[in-house]
Amino acid sequence: MSLDFFESASFGAALSLLSDGEFHSGEELGERLNMSRAAVWKILKKFKQLGIDIVSVKGKGYRIKGGLDLLDESQIQAKHKAALTIKVLTQLDSTNSYLLRLEHPEKQVCLAESQTAGRGRRGRTWVSPFAQNIYASIGWGFEGGIAALEGLSLAIGVAVLRCLHRAGVSDLSLKWPNDILYKNKKLGGILIEMSGDPSGYCLSVVGVGINVSMGHCYSESIGQPWVALNDIFIEQAIPVIGRNELVSSLLGELRLVLSTYQQEGFSAYRCEWMKFASYLNEVVDIYIGNNIQTGIFRGVDSSGALLLDIDGDERIFHGGEVSLRGVYAS
Ligand code: BTN
Repeated sequence: MSLDFFESASFGAALSLLSDGEFHSGEELGERLNMSRAAVWKILKKFKQLGIDIVSVKGKGYRIKGGLDLLDESQIQAKHKAALTIKVLTQLDSTNSYLLRLEHPEKQVCLAESQTAGRGRRGRTWVSPFAQNIYASIGWGFEGGIAALEGLSLAIGVAVLRCLHRAGVSDLSLKWPNDILYKNKKLGGILIEMSGDPSGYCLSVVGVGINVSMGHCYSESIGQPWVALNDIFIEQAIPVIGRNELVSSLLGELRLVLSTYQQEGFSAYRCEWMKFASYLNEVVDIYIGNNIQTGIFRGVDSSGALLLDIDGDERIFHGGEVSLRGVYAS
């Protein structure tokens, strides 16, 4: 089965019809989708490949238990008019890879309902089940070389936090360089990939993943404490916002940072980043390959580099393979 089948108009129409969570008879589906019962049956069988559970009850028809909160390309596009071009796909390898394959990914956005090869930082896999989370990538061009983009990934973390705060969520923090945490559990992550001239025009593809309603059956594959936004909405008793509203707001915040970063640089975001920094002034381990450095985390400098106090000496760590773990964190 080619992935293109999932992008076909008939598959999309069947998905959106059944996304309401109500029963639809085979006859009704055939009529509304303008296809034979056999063709409907074939499509329903394909739902399983996306991990969608179809309930079938004799005399009632088919339903998706709980329904689906599907992304709506035209609704998201309408919020961003000519500023961005939005593409929503049912399934693809990775939204970052999709944009990196385009000849001109600037101001292009790729959103996916699921990723078969979602990528995290440091070669990790990003678990990407269907219609449960946000998988978003945006392409942006910059002049002035890669050095001018130091700290961009931290500023993107600030943009994601602004979007989540706007949704009413509190108790969020940023773990250097850009993990989005809620009470020390991972809520989202950022993967920025860059190409171009080290001293001239550079292209960045900014990928953001946010867990929204992912089920706990994925915990084993994730292998670290994590949380989904809908659980936070319940815990904090705030109104749930749908993925379309969330992603539209996220793109607005990303656009704002990306369109001003070249002029402003990281110094414009440092205070806000520090305000939400995890482990600030706590003892942490920094991993650099097989080497571990222990010290007190003092936050970041005006370029976004990590500051570590080792026995009174301030050491500076830039990006790459450095990762940070609170020594006294649970
Ligand atoms: C991390 O390891 O914390 C970064 C995770 C980044 C995941 C997002 S999901 C959208 C985009 N596409 C990918 O393949 N990865 C990023």
